Amino acid sequence: MTERQAAVRTIVLATNNAHKVSEISTALNFEGWEFKTLRELGIHSEPDEDANTFEGNALIKAMAAREASGGLAALADDSGLEVDALDGAPGVYSARYAEDEIDAQTGLTAEGLPIDSANNKKLLREMADVPDDKRTARFVCTLVFIEEDGAKHVARGTIEGRIGYDERGDEGFGYDPLFYPDEFHGEKTLAEVSQTEKNAISHRGNALRALKRELD
Ligand code: IMP
Repeated sequence: MTERQAAVRTIVLATNNAHKVSEISTALNFEGWEFKTLRELGIHSEPDEDANTFEGNALIKAMAAREASGGLAALADDSGLEVDALDGAPGVYSARYAEDEIDAQTGLTAEGLPIDSANNKKLLREMADVPDDKRTARFVCTLVFIEEDGAKHVARGTIEGRIGYDERGDEGFGYDPLFYPDEFHGEKTLAEVSQTEKNAISHRGNALRALKRELD
């Protein structure tokens, strides 16, 4: 091996979401690390995410990816929105909050909405009678990193904010158009800022920075 060819460490990412892949590889820029999605490795792994905590579900995904890849180091995340007025819902069910309104054939609601929009509409309905000072919420992200030898690292990040009264902004995904981070003093939702601005304060960004500190 020449000096220029540093040893490569391949990390399997238990996601196929391009947004997450670029955010993770930018944040964990250790020399020689190379991130590969399950799809890039030709692996199909969709374990049941049936734990009732973010950490439990991230652990299920990381363990399954490690096993399916024949023992590569594996990184998984699980995230969601906790709304105080709804006792922490939708929580670990964030991705499928309005699932019962979705037609299995089309993947859309009867009005033609995809799941993310249906989730937002349902949240607005549930919050219709909740006053300003009770609309507090947070996004949570838990990362689980399992090394080749089985050593496990867990990192958590949050972002505090409030739920709005209508959807604002076209950036981001999921509940971003309804979420006003405290950092923006109620002026902008997470869907009204660039990806870079979001990453600097987001739950996933904070969890990645915590994991980086732990591994440094
Ligand atoms: P997962 O971690 O990809 O399973 O995400 C769970 C769900 O939580 C997503 O489908 C979204 O509904 C929601 N969620 C997680 N992170 C975000 C975010 O950064 N913005 C908006 N919604 C999010």
